[in-house]
Parts: sequence; structure tokens; C-alpha cells
Amino acid sequence: MTGLYSDDILNEIARANDIIEVVSGYFPLKKAGKDYKALCPFHAEKTPSFNVSPGKQIYKCFGCGRGGSVFNFVMAKENVTFPEAVRILAERAGIELKDRAGAEQGANTRKQVRDVLEWAARMFEKGLQSPQAGAPGREYLESRAITAATIDAFRIGFAPEGWDNLIRAAGRDGMPLELLDTAGLVVKRDDGSGYYDRFRGRVIFPILDALNRVVAFGGRALGDQQPKYLNSPETPIFHKGEALYGLPQARTAIEANRRVVVVEGYFDVVMPHQVGVANVVATLGTALTNEHVRALKRFADEVILVYDSDLAGQRAADRGMELFLAEDVRILITVVPQGKDPYDYCREQGGEAFQAQVAAAKDAFAFKWELVSLEFSAAASPAAQRRAIEAMLSSVLKAPALAQENLRLQRDLILGHMSRTLGISEETLRAEFSRLRRTAGRTAAGTETGANLPDARRWAAEQALLMALVCRPSRLEEALAAMPPDRIEDPKFRALYEALLDNTGRRDGDIESIVLHMEDEALAGLAVQLFERGESVGACRETGDTGPGPLAQMFTESLTALHGMEAETDLAARGRAARDGTTDNPQALRDFAEARKQRQGFTPPAARRRADGEALNGPGK
Ligand code: UTP
Ligand code: MN
Repeated sequence: MTGLYSDDILNEIARANDIIEVVSGYFPLKKAGKDYKALCPFHAEKTPSFNVSPGKQIYKCFGCGRGGSVFNFVMAKENVTFPEAVRILAERAGIELKDRAGAEQGANTRKQVRDVLEWAARMFEKGLQSPQAGAPGREYLESRAITAATIDAFRIGFAPEGWDNLIRAAGRDGMPLELLDTAGLVVKRDDGSGYYDRFRGRVIFPILDALNRVVAFGGRALGDQQPKYLNSPETPIFHKGEALYGLPQARTAIEANRRVVVVEGYFDVVMPHQVGVANVVATLGTALTNEHVRALKRFADEVILVYDSDLAGQRAADRGMELFLAEDVRILITVVPQGKDPYDYCREQGGEAFQAQVAAAKDAFAFKWELVSLEFSAAASPAAQRRAIEAMLSSVLKAPALAQENLRLQRDLILGHMSRTLGISEETLRAEFSRLRRTAGRTAAGTETGANLPDARRWAAEQALLMALVCRPSRLEEALAAMPPDRIEDPKFRALYEALLDNTGRRDGDIESIVLHMEDEALAGLAVQLFERGESVGACRETGDTGPGPLAQMFTESLTALHGMEAETDLAARGRAARDGTTDNPQALRDFAEARKQRQGFTPPAARRRADGEALNGPGK
């Protein structure tokens, strides 16, 4: 949690934005009991499992597990960061926002960087239109059959030859050079005598974010100069592994069918668009990352990867299965014939042919299955089929996503999905899966990967602890003394634990103030999920109950279990130290706050107060 905004202002904005009203602004909600229901906007479904609670001011999907505060909802729906969601809702309610001092500076810099990038985009657009200086750019685009309408829609520009065209224009328009530097538009001279323009003699593709704001540029050389494409460096607002070229231009078309086509290059986006296939975006010279998929999931349920060679397609199949496991999104793969890229294909064959190619895409699992069955001579004999299944499952088992997730859940997901896409019975797959996992466990034992193999028992105990804590934050101090977050192995649970500790809301059963401060929507979703489950266990609302209610029991039992496991895995020493700490141990809190401060270079406000000894006795009262 960065604490960009004060708790007071967050509370004020949340109060002024009733979650029912905000959600209804996007799609209709139907009353069902004390809650409201709708079809989930975040995944495809036929019966509504998206739930909004006016009482708790949270949303939650029983289908896909998304959930959180009104801020998280806007983050997800608008594909924006937490601070941006806060801004949007503040504006909606007419509340004036003041960032905290330091943060304000950061926000100001980002705003200035955005402004200078927008300014530069206009300069490049002008550059392309300039009668003389722009001619080479126009000729190049013409040679690639790009029309004026496409140039317009994608704001394609040109940076003429010369070392200081942009720098001189900046002088005229009063743009500080340092800002051009921060924005990645200029490069410092080696001898320190100033700057020169980064983009020279290149056709410029502005990279826009989902809200249509310029975040970076990609420049195509006109001939075979190297590099062929020059991209902006990483800046405060541009991260290559997250950005998707063409997103705002594609957004409406993507949302229309909740389907997005992902290609590799700038021209592979603009040419399909020009011939009528508009739901296309590109990664920027990187493979598809989890961040890309998370951003796309807001708009699409299906991600179709288009490759220009069988080899790239094969690699993508493994990656696609991994992404499916990690992000639970349908990934399909297609290879354009004869090594053509989407640009060539669309230019030569037109939009309908490309559309047909996209429609023929195969699920990553099916794609992989075809490859492995081919390898085992079309899996004709039972033995060959068995080897193919084995090859399939072991590439799934190697997926990093599996190393951290609850194996049981993941296994069901994988097997169900494979059974459906491959037409093999779940029983067959299940037997083979268990056998392979046992073998994998044995070979990995003692090796480094062995140490990372998920321990379902540990995972379950950690989950129980966090479930108890989300429902009963009043027991945080006690938990901290017995099992601090750095001893929680699952990264998601650890993050949630730390977020709870940062939180000032400490009333039992009050999920609302917990999620209100969660900037990470996935974390908020997890909190809501655990809360709902804990609540259904029963004791959540009996606040103040420290007796042997189910949650109190879950709390103590999970701690006992975790301590037991630590002792088993030769962590007895640490376990003992923790058990020596009595409950309600203020020293433990101080130590924790200190350790955090050292680790992160800052003290969260809540920990600061606790460390000062002010709020030591008052949790949850
Ligand atoms: P390609 O080399 O496949 O380019 O790189 P392309 O899209 O087919 O380009 P044209 O059609 O020859 O103009 C695919 C993508 O990889 C990134 C760019 O994003 C490019 O669109 N890339 C490639 C770079 O960032 N730098 C490079 O030097 C090359
Ligand atoms: Mn190309």
C-alpha cells in the first residue's frame, strides 16, 4: 500500500460513491434479497454470480473470484490504477483531491511527463504532414499501403532526420529538457554536453494506454538501419512488459465480442485494423506476460495469439497453457500460413481471410495436443496415446503457476479443461496426473525445485489463518507474535497479511474498511473471498467472541498446525522464539514495524502509530 491518499479522504470518497450506484452506472443490477445481482462483467457466464452488497459496500463474483471495494471495481472496469480510480470517483462525487506532499510530486511528474509526451506526439504528427521534411515518412507509409485514415486513427507521425528537431521545438514551446529526458524523448550526450533527439528519421507509432493517453513511442527505420524499431525506454509511466500497442483503438471491437487478437508488431495491428479487423493489439517485442493478460482480461475472455511460424506457435502453446493456469483466461493460438505475418496476410488476402484465420485458432491445450499426438504418430495405439497424455501433463506440471497455487484446485481446473478440449475422460487423465506428480515429486526431492514444491497442508493452514484474520482483525497482534508474515510461504497470503497489518480498520467482521484501502484488486478479491467463506463458517459476526467459536478455533488450530510444520521442517528454533512471545505482545509489533521500515524504507502509518505506543490497547474497540 503506498498510502497516496489519506484514510479520511478515501472514506469520504467511498461514502460519496455508493457501490450500487456506481456499478449500476455500468450495467443494470437486479435486487436479490438484501444484495444485488448481475452477470459478471469480468468473465463469461449465463447465470448471474456477480454480487454487490449495499450493506458491506463490496462486490464479489462467486464464479471468477473477483471482488473488492468500489475503488477496486473502477480499477477493474476502467483498467486503471488505484490512484486513478480514486480520482475518477472523487470527480464523480465532486470532491477535490489533494495528494500527500511527496506523492503529489510524483503525480505531478507523471502528469508533466504525460503532457510532454502528448506534445511530442503532436510534433511527430506535424512532422509527417510537413510538406518537405515529412515527405520520406509519407513515402514510406505509402510504400506499406497505409492510408490516411489509418494514420489518423493511430496518430502515426514522423521524426525527420536531424539531431535536435524536437529539442529546438521544445525551446520554442517552453518544454524543459529534463522533462523530455524523463519522458525518454532525448538522450544525454556521452560527454555530458547536453542532449540529442532519440527519434531521428523514423516513422513514429505513439503507444497509448487504455485511456487514450500517450505513454511511449516506437520508431520504424525507413530503410535497414538498426535497430529496425526503436522504442522509448522505461519511464515512470511506461513499462514495456505491460503495454499493449493499439489498445484504445481496439477496445470497442474487443468488448463487442470479448475477444482480443494479440500480434507481434505495430504494422500487424494497423493493417488488420485498416482492412476491418479492429480487435487487434500487439505486445512490444516481448512475449505475452501475466501483466498483459491481466490488462486484457478486463475487456476479453478469449485471447487469440497469432504467430507467423510453427516454431513460434509451439513455444506459444506452452506459454499459453501456463497463462491459462495462472490467469484463468482462455488462450487460443493460430499460425498464419506460409510464414506470413498478419500485416502481409491482411495486405494480400484481406480482412475476411484474416478473420477466418483467427476463427480457426485452437485452444492452447488443443494446439499442444495436436503437436504431441503428431509426435506419437497421431496417438493411434493406446500406448502412443498414453505417451501423448504424459507429454501433455508433464508440460503442464512444469508450469511455474503450479508451484505456488493450491494444487488440488489447479488439478481440477486442468483436468476438466483438458478433458473437454481433448475429449479424453477425466478419469484417465486423473490417474495419469497422480502418477506423474508422484514421479515428479520424487525426482525433485532434495533439489531446488523440490524445495519449492507446494505443500498443500501448509497452504491450507496458511489459508485458514488468513481467513480467521480477515474476519477477526482484532487478533492480528496475537498472530503477529506467533506467526509474522515473513514466515508465510504463499506470496498472496503473505501480501494479504501485510495489507491487513497496514490497515487501520480493525473491527471484526468489517470487510468494508479492509478492502477500502487495498490498491491491489486481486488482493481485495482474495480478502473478500476469504471473508465470505469465513463468514459462512459461522462466527464472523459474533464480534468479541474469543471463545471456542469456529473462527477462533480455526485461528488457534492454524497456528498450531503451522508451528508443527515449522518444527518438522527443522525450523524449530524460530518456532520456539515465536511461541515465547506472549499474546498481545507490543514488542513483537515494534520489532515488526522496525523490520519493515528497514526492508521497505518507510513506515506505514498504522505501524507507526502502533510503534509509538498510542493504539496498542485499542484494536477493534
Ligand atoms: P518484427 O521484426 O517482426 O517487425 O518485430 P515487424 O512488425 O514485422 O516489422 P515490419 O513489418 O518489418 O516493419 C516485431 C515487433 O518487435 C519489436 C517491435 O515492437 C516490432 O513491431 N521490435 C522489433 C523492436 O522493438 N525492435 C526491433 O529492432 C525489432
Ligand atoms: Mn512485418
